Amino acid sequence: PETGSLSIVVLGASGDLAKKKTFPALFHLYRQGFLPTDEVHIFGYARTKISDGELRNRLHSYLAPAKDASAELLGDVSKFLQLIKYVSGSYDSEDGFRLLDKEISEHESLKSSAEGSSRRLFYLALPPSVYPSVCKMIKTCCMNKSDLGGWTRVVVEKPFGKDLASAEELSTEIGMLFEEPQIYRIDHYLGKELVQNLLVLRFANRMFLPLWNRDNIDNVQIVFREDFGTEGRGGYFDQYGIIRDIIQNHLLQVLCLVAMEKPVSLKPEHIRDEKVKVLESVLPISDDEVVLGQYEGYRDDPTVPDESNTPTFATVILRIHNERWEGVPFILKAGKALNSRKAEIRVQFKDVPGDIFKCKKQGRNEFVIRLQPLEAIYMKLTVKQPGLEMSTVQSELDLSYGQRYQGVTIPEAYERLILDTIRGDQQHFVRRDELKASWQIFTPLLHRIDKGEFKPIPYKPGSRGPKEADQLLEKAGYVQTHGYIWIPPTL
Ligand code: BG6
Repeated sequence: PETGSLSIVVLGASGDLAKKKTFPALFHLYRQGFLPTDEVHIFGYARTKISDGELRNRLHSYLAPAKDASAELLGDVSKFLQLIKYVSGSYDSEDGFRLLDKEISEHESLKSSAEGSSRRLFYLALPPSVYPSVCKMIKTCCMNKSDLGGWTRVVVEKPFGKDLASAEELSTEIGMLFEEPQIYRIDHYLGKELVQNLLVLRFANRMFLPLWNRDNIDNVQIVFREDFGTEGRGGYFDQYGIIRDIIQNHLLQVLCLVAMEKPVSLKPEHIRDEKVKVLESVLPISDDEVVLGQYEGYRDDPTVPDESNTPTFATVILRIHNERWEGVPFILKAGKALNSRKAEIRVQFKDVPGDIFKCKKQGRNEFVIRLQPLEAIYMKLTVKQPGLEMSTVQSELDLSYGQRYQGVTIPEAYERLILDTIRGDQQHFVRRDELKASWQIFTPLLHRIDKGEFKPIPYKPGSRGPKEADQLLEKAGYVQTHGYIWIPPTL
């Protein structure tokens, strides 16, 4: 591993993302020994004029929630907070960034050993409108200057643009300042345990290899549901909507991992090459394979315009035009304010030909990967009903993580991804051509929604979403199993 000083700069340090995700992830890495105190310093940067102490106070409750604040945890929090320094300045003038550079250099002179290098990681927990100017400032004022090696990297969060043109513009602007290996576009779904498991499941298990194609699989669903609405984020959300917020990025990334061919190796470029091929094989979305919804009450949020046409729910079917998947619908579904909170991939197999058990009505084989909550992989299958009669029943082979891996803590997505940025591993980050291809898929539909040509159907908060979405599922060939429900095992 590399040694020498490591400066982690969180830009937008007083914002929501930084407080809720970035700093807690850094703290967890620190507690597990990944951020050694003799190498690491953390800098918060934002416009607000506050002291180091004030920033540390603000972060405290996010790192040590009152309900489980043991003395040990509190001790660690206070040691961690001492590593953080705050610098205030604007996002488009050199003064603040010169000051930041001075602070980083001072830290480096204290921490770099003679043979060590200087590593500078800039995490932009900021709205994308300031990415270009912030990147320019970093490039002008804050690059790694050590002769002894090291690097400068920037981490950016979605939304990367609003459509193909704006995303490309943003990529070009940042691309003029940094090389692709220096840019880490985070999609936090790629940091989830079960998303990372997809590659292993698919390519390290002989039994899936012959089944994973149009001959055996009838349809694939990738579903995201939340049981709460936009909760104070209405202003942000209304400009984007559920397709840009969840489907174009998180669900599409999952789709790539489910559908892609086996990469040449595990090298990040090999994996990302395969993902791009999938995206480029997606056919234009057809209007009759889209259902949009908006929950009743969404427009009551004072930050949401009364006439808003923004979908908070969408079901969109994608068709992959290649040898493996032709004819198999990939149904992407995401919604806010629904009846449950979960994210899962559901692969439904075709009916058994020449069925002698007449069990069609009971249900088809399904392979389900539950991403959250209660991570699990289970396979739904038909077995003999135990007993004297020869009858069949639906059951499952269940690998529930809570039960199988007791005592194992599954790392938070952000924790893992930040560690990757420090280690220089871009496997779980979105490459520029991947981003472009994903915007290409959704841009025509998004433009029509933005123009008000495609209207969301109202649905009741706490429901399954518009009934038209279920009808579309059925039309696409999904067969719901009645009388069977998977119950996560209790410990
Ligand atoms: C974010 C979206 O990217 O993902 C949010 O902006 C959403 O709207 C969140 O709530 C969901 O993330 P997770 O990890 O809770 O599924």
